[in-house]
Amino acid sequence: MKLLIKGGHVVDPANGIDQIADIVIDGQKIIGVDLGLSDQTISGGAEIFDATGLVVCPGLIDMHVHLREPGLEAKEEIRTGSEAAAAGGFTAVACMPNTKPIVDNSIMVSGILERARREAAVHIHVIGALTKEQAGKELAEIGDMVQNGAVALSDDGHFVEDARVFQTGLSYASMFDIPVISHAEEESLAGEGCMHEGLVSTILGVKGRPAVAEEIAVARDILLAEYAKARLHIAHVSAAGAVELIRQAKRRGVKVTAEATPHHLSLTDEAVYGFNTATKVNPPLRSADHVRSLIDGLKDGTIDAIACDHAPHAPEEKDVEYRIAANGFTGLETSLGVILTALYHSKELTLNQIVQLMSVSPAAILGVTGGSLAPGATADITVFDPDKEWIVDSKHFYSKGKSTPFDGKTLKGKAVATVVAGQFVMKNGEVL
Ligand code: DOR
Repeated sequence: MKLLIKGGHVVDPANGIDQIADIVIDGQKIIGVDLGLSDQTISGGAEIFDATGLVVCPGLIDMHVHLREPGLEAKEEIRTGSEAAAAGGFTAVACMPNTKPIVDNSIMVSGILERARREAAVHIHVIGALTKEQAGKELAEIGDMVQNGAVALSDDGHFVEDARVFQTGLSYASMFDIPVISHAEEESLAGEGCMHEGLVSTILGVKGRPAVAEEIAVARDILLAEYAKARLHIAHVSAAGAVELIRQAKRRGVKVTAEATPHHLSLTDEAVYGFNTATKVNPPLRSADHVRSLIDGLKDGTIDAIACDHAPHAPEEKDVEYRIAANGFTGLETSLGVILTALYHSKELTLNQIVQLMSVSPAAILGVTGGSLAPGATADITVFDPDKEWIVDSKHFYSKGKSTPFDGKTLKGKAVATVVAGQFVMKNGEVL
C-alpha cells in the first residue's frame, strides 16, 4: 500500500532538506521526498495525507524512557508506554533497565523485545544494565545482552560509585562499540536531598542536591572514558558545570555525548514552591543560570540529544509528602510540545536543530535505524503542527503515569500523526 504525505514542510537534516515537499511511501519504505513523484503515485492509488501547514520529519526517537515492564506494571507497561510514545510523536524509544527484576541478562533483553514485537505501538530498543542488579559491584552479562539486541548499557537511577567497576564496564562496552549511559550524581553529595541546592531550597528549608554532585560525577566519568577510549553518554545533564566539562572533553576528542530533558530545559527550581510532587525528579530542576547553560549547550553542539526521561509512577507514590515522593514523572506526551514552546517559539532553536536533537542524534548515538527520510529508509515519520495550542490534561494521557509538572499548562506545538514502518500508529492525537 502506497502512502503520500502531501504538501508538508519537510525537515530532514540528515539529507539537507528544509522545504515544502511530498513524501512517498511504499509498504514499509520511503520511496522519495520530492514534488515530482506525487502524480505518478496518485495514479497508483496511494492513500493521501494532507500535511499542508504541518511539519514532516524523520520519526522522533527518545533514547531515555522507563517502560517499567516487567514487574512494575502499576506504573507503566510496554503497551501503554509505547502508546504514550506514539501519541507524543515518537516512532522509537529506548527503555531503561531499572525494572523488577533488573534487565541485566540476555533473557530479560529478548523477553522485552519479544513482548514489544507483540504489543508495542512503536519500535522499542533495550538498554541493559551495566552491573548485575544495578548494584554497582559486578558487571552484568554484557556480551550476551548485546548479542540479544541491547543497544547501550546503563545503571540509570544510580551512579556507579566504584570507579574500577565503571572503567571495566566502559572497556568492555567499547569492544561492542556501544555507549555506557551514566546517571551522574555522586550520592555522598546528593544524599537525601530532594531538590536543587540553592536559594529556593534554603527558603523552603528542604535539603538540596548540589550541582557539584553532578559535576564531580561527570568529571570522573569523562576521565574514565578518556582513559578507556570508550563511548560515554551522560544522561539528563542539568548542571552548568557539567555542560562545560562535556564541552572541554569533546574539544580534546573524548568520545562523550550527552542529553538534556524538556523539564531541565524549561523549568527552574522555583517550580518546587507549593511542594507539587510532580516537580520532584533526579537530577533536580535547577536555577535559571543552569537552564541557560543547558540551552547554550544545545546550541553549540555540546549536548547532542533531547530525551524526556519518561518516568511514570503510580498515584500512591506521588500523592504523598514531598520528601518521600518518588522521583520522576511522565514525559512522552508533553516532550515535543514543551520543546517547541520553550525553545522554538522563543527562537532559541530552529526546527532543523530540534529534529537533529530529537531524531538524528539519538539514532546515531544508539546506532539504531532512523533519523533520515532517505529513499530506502524505513518509513518512520512524525508529522506535527508547530503552532497548535493545547492545554496539557494528564487525565487523557495514554501513559499510566499521570504526574507531570506541565499539567494544566498551555503548550504551542503538538504531534498530529506518527507513522511507524509505513503504518499510521497515531492520527490527530488518537493512537490507532
Ligand atoms: O527521577 C528519576 N526517576 N530519575 C531517574 O534517573 C530514574 C527515574 C525513575 O526510574 O523513576
